[in-house]
Order: sequence, then structure tokens, then C-alpha cells
Amino acid sequence: MFGFRCRPSALLLFLFIPSLWASLIDPGGQWFEGGSSSLSRRELATRSVAQDYPLRILCLGASITFGFHSSSGNGFRYALRGKLVEQGNDVNMIGSLKGGNMSNNHVEGWTGFRISQVAQKAELSLPSMPNLVLLLAGTNDMKQNFEVSTAHLRLGQLIDRIFHVVPSTNIIVGTLPPDSNATAEANILIFNTNVEKMIYNRTMQGQKVSLVDFHSDWFSLADLGADGTHPTDMGYLKMSKVWYTGILAASGNISAPVEVKGINDYKAGNDSSAAGTAMDVVCQTTNGQTMSTAQKLQCSSSSRIPLVNICLVLGIIIINIYIS
Ligand SMILES: *[C@@H]1O[C@H](CO)[C@@H](O)[C@H](O)[C@H]1NC(C)=O
Ligand SMILES: *[C@@H]1O[C@H](CO)[C@@H](O)[C@H](O)[C@H]1NC(C)=O
Ligand SMILES: *[C@@H]1O[C@H](CO)[C@@H](O)[C@H](O)[C@H]1NC(C)=O
Ligand SMILES: *[C@@H]1O[C@H](CO)[C@@H](O)[C@H](O)[C@H]1NC(C)=O
Ligand SMILES: *[C@@H]1O[C@H](CO)[C@@H](O)[C@H](O)[C@H]1NC(C)=O
Repeated sequence: MFGFRCRPSALLLFLFIPSLWASLIDPGGQWFEGGSSSLSRRELATRSVAQDYPLRILCLGASITFGFHSSSGNGFRYALRGKLVEQGNDVNMIGSLKGGNMSNNHVEGWTGFRISQVAQKAELSLPSMPNLVLLLAGTNDMKQNFEVSTAHLRLGQLIDRIFHVVPSTNIIVGTLPPDSNATAEANILIFNTNVEKMIYNRTMQGQKVSLVDFHSDWFSLADLGADGTHPTDMGYLKMSKVWYTGILAASGNISAPVEVKGINDYKAGNDSSAAGTAMDVVCQTTNGQTMSTAQKLQCSSSSRIPLVNICLVLGIIIINIYIS
């Protein structure tokens, strides 16, 4: 007989196996528990991202990129850098500014700057040839109600310029986080939708550019500080996590950094004092917020676990059909 009969043994299998799969997906529990510093460099290399190339990262944008109003001044950069170092990568953060109390605190984040102004400042860092650019710009255009409907095109010009100077680089673009000002928020929603389409178009053309979302269910006004624009420490930590997830997704597309006289990524990256697991903690802390399914999904860093569950359910249904 063909039918969907639920057998207790199959149910048990279903309850048991997802955790088994989770351990296969997340060997060593590095994602949820953080790494152990006793691992050798070789062991670390097997789990590092971007084929173990050094990451010469340019964080490019305005005040949120700078880490404005975070208590350490590091914003999202400290936990992100620490996580990458912990995975075994050499990390060299570049930029003409320094911000925050972390080591290797270079950044190109200009408070109050609109996209076109950020683009001018990008010229200070592009000669350093980053192999990874984390780009988050537009908040000030939106807050100033400045040419909102074409803002994504200005961002597109900046992306073109970056690829022109560093053709082998990889760019990860962030959507803008929510804002408590209703006018700014309405603008942000328009911008984010346009940026999403623009990045999709570019991906279709084979450009090494991808999108991460800071305006998902995981982010809300509760992640913003008193000014209603800049994230709280918890909000910044969530941002680190989202950038990291984006870097993992783009990992296979990241190339070795171009050699530039005077730049030593290894030296910069060998200071692992910033290694930390703060970012992992964000998923164990709800910050007074109830975690929605989407938030939990974000915490599990990929859709693989739920997908595996779907496959298991299908598999069990098929087994049931066969044994009944
Ligand atoms: C950086 O600032 C934070 C927040 O004030 C503090 O907890 C941390 O100890 C500081 N780290 C260093 C290395 O000074
Ligand atoms: C919200 O932003 C708009 C546009 O920038 C500004 O005119 C308005 O004063 C702001 N509202 C509040 C309550 O800050
Ligand atoms: C994406 O590409 C389509 C088709 O080429 C075009 O019509 C559309 O304007 C593009 N959208 C953006 C936001 O670049
Ligand atoms: C990787 O690069 C290819 C083109 O080389 C592109 O189609 C793909 O979308 C990229 N993926 C990511 C995540 O950047
Ligand atoms: C980092 O550099 C120091 C010397 O500056 C060296 O002793 C140490 O072995 C290096 N660490 C790694 C992980 O290579």
C-alpha cells in the first residue's frame, strides 16, 4: 500500500539524524563554539576561507563602516576580523583612516559622506589593491533625501571604478540597515530594492559581486542606538556575522591579493590578538528580542541545515512508502 504512515522508528530517525548532519556540516563545531587556539597553522588552513589566501580587506563606506557610536569604536570590524583570523586566514584591513581600539584598525569609512563622496575617498585605498571590498554606502544620501531614485546607479559607478582598478577583486555589497526616521526608512527601502536588482544584474554578467542583507528580519530598530541610525554594539555584532556569511558564500571567488610594494598582508595578518568569538555569541543572545525563524536561519549561517531536514523528511516519506 502506498500511503504516508508515520512509523515511530522513522520519527526517531528524523529526530536523531539532523544533529548528526549538523556535526557533519559544522565539523568541530567551529561555527557555534568558536575555534580553539591550540590548533596548528596547518589544521587552521584546512578550514580557512578563500583558499587560504591572505585577505586584504577594504571596508568602504560611511559612519556605520567606521563603527560610529560603537563602544570600542571598531563597529563590525573587530569580530569579523577575529573570526577570519580564528579560521586561519591572514587578514590585513586597509584604509586611510584608523578607527577603534582593535589592532589593524584601518578603514575607509567617512562619517556623513554620501555615495559620491565615499567614491572619492575610495581612491585613497584602491592603489593598495584589496582582494575583498566590503561596501556599505548610501545611508547619508537616504537621510538627506538626496537623489534617491538614482542612488543605486551611483553605487554602481563606484563598483565599476573598483573593478577598473582591481579587476580581480571581490566586492560584497550590503543593503542599508533600517533607520528610525520614517522618511529615511522609506528611501532606504527604495534604495535597497534597486541595489538588489543592480547586484543581481551584475552577478548575471559574471561580475564577482554579491549582496548581503542588513535589512532582513534579523535587523530591527532595536539594533539601533539612540540616534536611530547607528547600530548598537549588538547590532554591529550582527553585522559582522552577516558580512562573514557573505564572505563564506563568496569564498571560492576570492583571488590572491595582488602584490603591492610596501604591503605585507602576512605581517598585518600575523597579529592574531584580535581573534575572538564574540560573533558566535550573537546567535546565543537574543538581546531581548524573540528570534524568528528567519533570524535562526541567519544564525545557522546557511540554508543547508533546513535543506538537509527537507531532504530527510522526503527520504523518510519514501522509506515509509517502501516499507508500508
Ligand atoms: C576596546 O573597547 C572596549 C569597549 O570599551 C573594551 O571592552 C575593550 O577592552 C577595549 N579593548 C582594548 C584592547 O583596549
Ligand atoms: C527625518 O528625516 C527628514 C529628511 O532628512 C527630516 O527632514 C526630518 O526632520 C527627520 N525627522 C525627524 C523626526 O528627525
Ligand atoms: C537590470 O537589468 C535589466 C535588464 O537588462 C534592466 O532593465 C534593469 O534596469 C536593470 N536594473 C538595475 C537596477 O540595474
Ligand atoms: C562568483 O563569480 C562568478 C563569475 O566569475 C559569478 O557568476 C558568481 O555569482 C560569483 N559568486 C559570488 C558569490 O560572488
Ligand atoms: C608571527 O610572527 C612572529 C614573529 O613576528 C613569529 O614568531 C610567529 O611564528 C608568527 N606566527 C605565525 C602563526 O606564523
